[in-house]
Amino acid sequence: MKKNKLILGIETSCDDTSVALIKGTDIIFHKKYDQEAILKEWGGVVPEIAARNHLAKITPLLRECFEQTHTTPKELDLISVTLLPGLLGPLLTGVNAAKTLSLIHKIPILPVNHLYAHLEAIHLTEDIKYPYLGLLISGGHSIYFWVESKDQFHILGSTIDDAAGEAFDKGGKLLELGYPAGHIIDALSKWGDEKKYKFPIGLQSSADARLSFSGLKTSLRVFLEKNPHILKSAPTQWEIKENLAQDFYDVCASYQNALAQALILKLRYALTSAKENFGASDLAPIVVGGGVACNTKIRNLLQEKYKNSFFVSPKFCTDNGAMIANMGRIHADNAIPYPESLKLDARGRFLDKKAFL
Ligand code: KG4
Ligand code: ZN
Repeated sequence: MKKNKLILGIETSCDDTSVALIKGTDIIFHKKYDQEAILKEWGGVVPEIAARNHLAKITPLLRECFEQTHTTPKELDLISVTLLPGLLGPLLTGVNAAKTLSLIHKIPILPVNHLYAHLEAIHLTEDIKYPYLGLLISGGHSIYFWVESKDQFHILGSTIDDAAGEAFDKGGKLLELGYPAGHIIDALSKWGDEKKYKFPIGLQSSADARLSFSGLKTSLRVFLEKNPHILKSAPTQWEIKENLAQDFYDVCASYQNALAQALILKLRYALTSAKENFGASDLAPIVVGGGVACNTKIRNLLQEKYKNSFFVSPKFCTDNGAMIANMGRIHADNAIPYPESLKLDARGRFLDKKAFL
């Protein structure tokens, strides 16, 4: 088998169009277009608009990738592409780009589960062995997994309503911080007192790994209705500013703290479940991935409590093509050869339990 495979990774599941090219373990190209500036106007992701933007960006991005690395699509050993889960229109753009290259150059395709790719991105920077406990916290999902091997992901618990990133973004909307707001709340919280206000921890008294963030968001809404002066000091242009009223920083820090405490509390139950159901050891590594894994408070709290916790590098946390190409490296043997590759179809929902699907 060829050692230094040339693998193209394509990610278009939500609002980031991202392409990466890896050769063996080296990332030789990695770039993304995010749509934050466009989507801010709408206060979130509008699937149809996101899909149109992907369509406009994907071909120039692929061209740039091959030009800059002095390679041609013909040389590719494999194309790795996000097949699910995500927004159907955006996913279709990436999958169709992959199928077009597969059709022209008879290249196999590895269909990738975006959720597993977020966690497995840990292998881009750390030497982590299976099994591990994975915490995926992103804009669309919050799930504790027991990752037994590269193709056995078991769900230990997940959110019953909003995802952690969604709670950051919806909280940010209430605080008039624009979209997405996770990184802004993170930055503003550094100047705040996280113990000043008490926000609820969802499902606090249920001894399981289920999460809930919708009550947290509602309590922030009610709090702001009762304390309208707080919003008067919100930054006007979604800026990270040092000269706002202290109360505003305190609300950000207290809200973020409640979110972080919920994730830590439920991690304990996820570990218990992994021990009871899969014989996990106390020494099993804990891997945290997804956009919210960039959060400073969550990182500090978790690393303080669990010395064996590892975070995906921030540059590979939010949606990116490198984590998809990385799945191609790990699962090259499962690639779908041409012409069967042309039958692949994007799927919005996460239904399958298989490793790469
Ligand atoms: O993984 P991702 O790119 O999207 C999904 O696959 O859903 O994650 C995006 C999410 C957004 O909700 C964003 O607000 C959040 O990650 N995020 C953060 C931070 N950076 C990004 N949340 C908290 N703190 C951050 N520093
Ligand atoms: Zn994602």
